[in-house]
Amino acid sequence: MTDTTTTSDGHIDLTDQELDAGLDLHQLKQLVGLVDYDESSDPFPVTGWDAIVFVVGNATQTAHYYQSAWGMELVGYAGPEHGTRDHKAFVLRSGSIRFVVKGAVTPDSELIRHHAAHGDGVVDISLEVPDVDVCIAQARSAGATVLQEPETLTDDFGSVRVAAIATYGETRHTLVQRVVDGETYAGPYLPGYHPAASTFVKRDGAPKRLFQALDHIVGNVELGRMDEWVAFYNRVMGFTNMAEFIGDDIATDYSALMSKVVANGNHRVKFPLNEPAVAKKRSQIDEYLDFYAGPGAQHLALATNDILTTVDELRKEGVEFLVTPDAYYEDPEMRARIGEVRVPIEELQQRGILVDRDEDGYLLQIFTRPLGDRPTVFFEIIERHGSLGFGKGNFKALFESIEREQEKRGNL
Ligand SMILES: [Fe+2]
Repeated sequence: MTDTTTTSDGHIDLTDQELDAGLDLHQLKQLVGLVDYDESSDPFPVTGWDAIVFVVGNATQTAHYYQSAWGMELVGYAGPEHGTRDHKAFVLRSGSIRFVVKGAVTPDSELIRHHAAHGDGVVDISLEVPDVDVCIAQARSAGATVLQEPETLTDDFGSVRVAAIATYGETRHTLVQRVVDGETYAGPYLPGYHPAASTFVKRDGAPKRLFQALDHIVGNVELGRMDEWVAFYNRVMGFTNMAEFIGDDIATDYSALMSKVVANGNHRVKFPLNEPAVAKKRSQIDEYLDFYAGPGAQHLALATNDILTTVDELRKEGVEFLVTPDAYYEDPEMRARIGEVRVPIEELQQRGILVDRDEDGYLLQIFTRPLGDRPTVFFEIIERHGSLGFGKGNFKALFESIEREQEKRGNL
């Protein structure tokens, strides 16, 4: 086992979700670039992702899609049958990832308004923290908007302590403390949710799961406000800036953006933040901001250790990816930059998988088309081999591909 960190005194404990998923520390370092850090000096300690909460137009069908196409497992449910009157919520797992998809049941549900404004999207990037009260005290003193004061929720499975702060647009970070008074909450998600099991039966030979962990979530913010949001994560949550920085120098003729990345101490949680840059035509970020009606989560990067199988399986289920031109793979400069990767380039070309390399190693990545009806949120599939980047070297090739799609939609 190769261990690239300098300390081995257990600064990183695996989360219950990671342990449940059978992941080990070495795998997580490889999958998502986890690093050791000293939590004791962190003003806003974050353990990792807790759940990604989506509001969608039809949660019943979306939950089926995540099971059938994305190989996720249904583990929990809340709805009218159990006293949640106004909406249904399905809890889905793959590896250490927890998705919650919510859809309105009653015509006066708040979710109706949210969905009318934004369409399907991420409403809550929920984070697991060791101490909700410490985080909220820090957030308040740093000027964050506290949307929900700390409270303890209890049911037959135990207790959790939760609170929430506002981030960009109508997105929030709910903070979840899963150990209260020494007891770990044992339910499928939060109090009020009941255990559930998939009724969907996987095809014979289908892999156990298609992705193991969540790598990063990109936020699109308004023109000129990226630095404000970077400062927000620095000041309020103690996140630090990662090396990757995209200036408007990386742009096609028509599309430009600026991007900076912030991460929590152990790098489980990484947030690239994009803003549009002025170009000849409307960039993909402008298109997102128009169709989402404001800032929001643009893409979620799902980490896999076998991107070829993941992409093949997703394609079999009808998931559509952005098309990468053959020219990308045939460009001698690109070939030289990529060097040797674990599979022949032809295997990548066949599937449209992109490669990027930096001083630490390389990564393989591919992007889906938008998941819903609006050209807003989408997924990335990522397989890291040492690189801690986000695919900066692919931005131009990627933009050109997105622009071809924008043009088809009449939004370029
Ligand atoms: Fe990404």
